[in-house]
Amino acid sequence: MTVPAQSGGATLTEGAAPGETLLKVTGLQKHFPIRKGLLKRQVGAVRAVDGLDFEVRAGETLGVVGESGCGKSTMGRLITRLLEPTAGTVEFEGKDITHLGVGGMRPLRRDVQMIFQDPYSSLNPRHTIGTIIGAPFRLQGVTPEGGVKKEVQRLLSVVGLNPEHYNRYPHEFSGGQRQRVGIARALALNPKLVVADEPVSALDVSIQAQVVNLLDDLQQELGLTYVIIAHDLSVVRHVSDRIAVMYLGKIVELADRDQLYTSPMHPYTKALLSAVPIPDPARRGAKSERILLKGDVPSPISPPSGCRFHTRCWKATEICRTAEPPLLELRPGQRVACHHPENFADQAPQDTVLLTAAKEAAELVADEVLAESAETSAAVAAEVHGTVQDGTAQDGTAQDGTAQDGTVQDAAAQDAAATDAKGTAAADDK
Ligand SMILES: Nc1ncnc2c1ncn2[C@@H]1O[C@H](COP(=O)(O)OP(=O)(O)OP(=O)(O)O)[C@@H](O)[C@H]1O
Ligand code: SF4
Ligand SMILES: [Mg+2]
Repeated sequence: MTVPAQSGGATLTEGAAPGETLLKVTGLQKHFPIRKGLLKRQVGAVRAVDGLDFEVRAGETLGVVGESGCGKSTMGRLITRLLEPTAGTVEFEGKDITHLGVGGMRPLRRDVQMIFQDPYSSLNPRHTIGTIIGAPFRLQGVTPEGGVKKEVQRLLSVVGLNPEHYNRYPHEFSGGQRQRVGIARALALNPKLVVADEPVSALDVSIQAQVVNLLDDLQQELGLTYVIIAHDLSVVRHVSDRIAVMYLGKIVELADRDQLYTSPMHPYTKALLSAVPIPDPARRGAKSERILLKGDVPSPISPPSGCRFHTRCWKATEICRTAEPPLLELRPGQRVACHHPENFADQAPQDTVLLTAAKEAAELVADEVLAESAETSAAVAAEVHGTVQDGTAQDGTAQDGTAQDGTVQDAAAQDAAATDAKGTAAADDK
């Protein structure tokens, strides 16, 4: 899914040739202050993102995975500059954009777009689809050839929706259709980089695959570069060129997709992989490899010392508690932060005594326990690989476009939608 450059009048990634660095992040941090008392004194901080270093290459898909609360969305909002970093730098096409103001960011808003997690709350229920997809043109003061309406209708058909539904409202669409609307909005200004924050996790499995397929097709056609955020490895596996695994605000492993799946080096990656069974005959029945992590992710307000994973890692020794392992390229194309990596020479061989917690940290689980999850994973895999291609659009891309759910969830959802839409617009407007 790498390479391609243009189609249908959309010329993209002009600045960076395929494979060249499009976005570079160095030491990126976001600490949300915690304030208390009448004077709102800062008493601590949520260290949501705590020192990220990575780059995104033009034309590639970088998958970012990690458990809930590990800072994925915050990272996405930082690199799209919807949030101001606490420290570190973000470079886009070689230009430092970390602290660009409203005016400086305006041209960049065209190049970097975000697709939001929840298609139910990310579209303003009071606006028509036409208004929503046309908003980026108004915000940027751009008039596309043929006018906004014509361009919006073109975008609707690009994402598999009926252009005639220009005047319909979000509640008239199903979840999958709404996510297509979100994608159309993100594509309106021919972006170079699209950051998709859990674009399918709110959707049914079969619909997930269709939306993932759509993203994949659009990348082929338009030469887009993606950062796709997900909470497990089942979705990103099929679309990513490289994958970054996050834990508590840090990247613990960053590797080419195949390397990561066949030979994970960080114990946390290994646990994630075994918790999401991969429909791979070679792995089936490998009971002893299936690791279920115990305990919750620690709080990012006071993360564990040393390696942040040491409270849940079955390999943790004293050095893990005291010294933070740096993210090192231990194999070509595979960076990992661990003193005792899997499938590789021990980085701290002298340190052999396990921490007490390590013995309790993980449990091996039977295949049956994971059967349901395996089914889900297999269904996604089958669809993404095109084995289910009956052409019926289960997410309602079917030509009549009748909404399958037909209702806006509830008042709270509507408020959230309005707030989110406002927030997005405000951020866009910066
Ligand atoms: N605006 C904010 N103010 C304070 N804390 C925040 C804010 N946004 C996020 N956080 C905290 O930062 C941490 C990381 O949040 P983030 O939403 O980035 O995680 P995530 O990996 O996207 O999780 P999920 O998978 O649930 O979406 C969480 O502990 C969250 O509570
Ligand atoms: S072995 Fe140590 S350094 Fe590696 S992940 Fe486990 S706790 Fe962290
Ligand atoms: Mg999130």
